[in-house]
This record gives sequence, structure tokens and C-alpha cells, in this order.
Amino acid sequence: MTATGVKNVLEVLWDFLALVIFIISCNVEAIFRYFVKPPLKPLDGEVVLITGGANGIGREIALQLAKTKAKIVCWDLDENASRLLEKELKDCDAHFYKVDVSDRIQVEATALKMQQTIGDITILVNNAGIMPCKSFFKHSPQELENLFKVNVFGNFWTLRAFVPKMMEMNRGHIVTLCSAAGLIPVRNLAPYCGSKHAIHGVVEGLKDEFLSMEVPPKINFTTVYPFSCNTGLLTGLKSHTRFPWLVPKYLRPQNVAACAIDGLRRNYEHVYIPGFVQFAGTTAKGLLPKVQRASTNFLQCYVEPTK
Ligand SMILES: NC(=O)c1ccc[n+]([C@@H]2O[C@H](COP(=O)([O-])OP(=O)(O)OC[C@H]3O[C@@H](n4cnc5c(N)ncnc54)[C@H](O)[C@@H]3O)[C@@H](O)[C@H]2O)c1
Repeated sequence: MTATGVKNVLEVLWDFLALVIFIISCNVEAIFRYFVKPPLKPLDGEVVLITGGANGIGREIALQLAKTKAKIVCWDLDENASRLLEKELKDCDAHFYKVDVSDRIQVEATALKMQQTIGDITILVNNAGIMPCKSFFKHSPQELENLFKVNVFGNFWTLRAFVPKMMEMNRGHIVTLCSAAGLIPVRNLAPYCGSKHAIHGVVEGLKDEFLSMEVPPKINFTTVYPFSCNTGLLTGLKSHTRFPWLVPKYLRPQNVAACAIDGLRRNYEHVYIPGFVQFAGTTAKGLLPKVQRASTNFLQCYVEPTK
């Protein structure tokens, strides 16, 4: 073997050794962190934008964050619900805008207006979402397009509008309300599953892009994967689970919001609610596809229309 060949082999062996040591240290850290949680970071001076902040999980996030010293900005289409929340938060530093996140022009124009009046967004909570629930073939073409416009493109437009400034400031946090359906297949929700798998992928890809930079920006990511939660999103739908002690039929939006904020403040990359979603959505992926499907069927976790 030539000297260059030997050098290449040694380089690969060295990189492999470094990888093994890194894997061991990550696992040791994960075990340690299981028992000793990272400290909660303060939110003083943070400016938090919550899309879809007028109802459900987003509303609860806004209410709970309002108890901290963060400035809250809520974007939503629902003006009535926004007004109600505005009244509840009248003594807080909270701001409300009617924005359709699927409309790039509206997102860009409001982001510009906010920069001049409110300042830079330091925490972006991409929460707005919709969930038509029926057989794949019963979705109209418009419903399919709209689903991706809100659940996927809505995230693109806010990421494009706010993350470059976070990179410039070298500080920021992106919280994404994904779903258990972003990791696990769920019947009656095929297009929604696709939209949530897509946004999970977008966040992972963006993280990788940042980490590959010579000096990665100090921007944290927290992606939240809840199972069914009792909000307006589930109106007219029925959640099934065979073992409610393992996977509750309906999570409370207050709990989902509290877990998301805990994840944000501890810089967790992923928040699975309940914890079982982590097993089903990650560990179980190592099983054969037929075994995965049989296990999902055994657990009978799905959502269906009531009619
Ligand atoms: N509820 C659940 O079971 C559940 C489970 C997992 C993940 N999620 C995800 O959590 C997020 C919040 O869901 P939720 O349960 O609170 O729903 P929700 O319907 O209670 O609230 C969603 C909010 O988003 C707003 N919104 C919808 N389209 C919008 C648009 N184009 N522009 C701006 N605002 C818009 C709505 O007006 C509403 O206020 C969604 O992304 C959803 O996919 C929900």
C-alpha cells in the first residue's frame, strides 16, 4: 500500500474511533440527563411569536408564557378568539395580528411591520395547523393543497421571515408543533401525516445545515410530537387507544403547552407526549415493517370521524 493509502486508512480508523467515543459519551450524557434535567433557561427579554396562538395548544402556550417576562406576539386567522385572548392578557406585554401563515406576502409584510414596532423575534413557535380527517380519497384537491399550504408552507414562510435575523443576532429558538403523526402512520390522516412528516424533515434538515456550518449559529430547535389533544382541531372526531394508561385518548392542551415550554426552556430537541410516542416513533422503527404495523394495530391508536 502506498503512503497515501495508509494515511487514508488511518484517517478513516481515527474518524471511526472518534465516532464511537462520541456515541458512548452521548449515551452517558442521555442517561445522566434522564435523572438530572438541564436547568430551565430564563425567558426575560425574549420576544415569542406563536402562530395559531388564539386557540388550543397555541393559546395555552401564550397564557403560560405570559406568566414569564417574555413579550408575546400571537398570529391567527380567528379574530374573535384573538380578541378574547387579548382581553385575558390585557395586563401583559402581548400583541395580536391577523395573519394567514399560508400567505407568504402577508407573512413577509407583517414580519416587516413588526420589526419596526415590536423588534426582533427571538423565539418562533410554529404552531398553526389544520387537520382534515377522512379517507385519503375523500379529501378534495383543494383540501389537500390547503393542508400543505398551512402545515408545511406556513412554516417555510415564517422560517424565511425570522430565522435569517436570528442567524445575524446569533441567538434564537425555533419550536415546531409537529405531531405523533409526524413519526407514526395514522389511518384517516394520511395527508396530515404527510404534512407533519414533512415538517419534521424540514426541521431536521435545517438543523443539519446549521451544524455543518464552520461556526454554527446559536439557534436551538425543539420539535413537539403530541398524540390526540382535546382542542378544536378534534371537533367531530373520536380518538381511540386500547390502553389509555399508556396513550391517553385525549391529552389536555394545558399539559401539551407545559411540556412544549419545558422543552423550550431546557433546550430539548424533541418532546414526545406521552413518552410512549418516542418508543413508537423512533425505537420501534428498527422493527420489520410488518411487525411495526402489527404492533400499531395491537395498540389501536387512531382517530376517526364521528359520522
Ligand atoms: N390537537 C391535537 O390532537 C394535536 C396533536 C398533535 C399535534 N397537533 C398540532 O398542534 C398544533 C396546534 O393544534 P391545536 O390542536 O391547538 O389546533 P386548534 O385548531 O385548536 O388551533 C389551531 C389554531 O391555528 C389557527 N390557524 C389555522 N390555520 C391558520 C392559518 N392559515 N394562519 C394562521 N392561523 C391559523 C386556528 O385559527 C387556530 O387558532 C397544530 O399544528 C396541530 O397539527 C395537534
